[in-house]
Amino acid sequence: MKQAIELNINGDTHEILVSPNNTLLEVLRDKLGLMGTKRGCDLGACGACTVLINGDAYLSCIMLAVDAIGKEILTIEGLDEGGDLHPLQRSFVENGGLQCGFCTPGMILTAKAILGEEKHPTEEVIKRKMAGNLCRCTGYKKIFEAVMSVTEQSGKEF
Ligand code: FES
Ligand code: FES
Repeated sequence: MKQAIELNINGDTHEILVSPNNTLLEVLRDKLGLMGTKRGCDLGACGACTVLINGDAYLSCIMLAVDAIGKEILTIEGLDEGGDLHPLQRSFVENGGLQCGFCTPGMILTAKAILGEEKHPTEEVIKRKMAGNLCRCTGYKKIFEAVMSVTEQSGKEF
């Protein structure tokens, strides 16, 4: 049986009718049209569907929408800063950290969660913590360079 729930997504409250088994990914993409959150494997193995929940990275394809009630959900659509690209988005563009772009929202949000925990992580830490985000195009080198470039900017809060 469907139930109406409220979710806080990118700072806005959305009232949505969901089934108890709807995943957060289904709600974001199929009910709200937030297509920046990608559906890759749909079984928790690729990282393409990563969103932030209260600042931590979660795989929205294996999280029930009802488990996100009362939490702050951030998708790639909510990352810009008043219309300007977030420093991570800018760095991915400037450093060539993407090709087809399919993995990019998940990569950027995972990187944001890492930088929220630790301002200046080493490249080894970034590689380890981003190991769950798969990319079929870039070979990863430019992605890590893009994240490292942001960690070198001093005084910025993520
Ligand atoms: S789509 Fe969620 S981990 Fe692949
Ligand atoms: S840029 Fe194509 S999957 Fe990563």
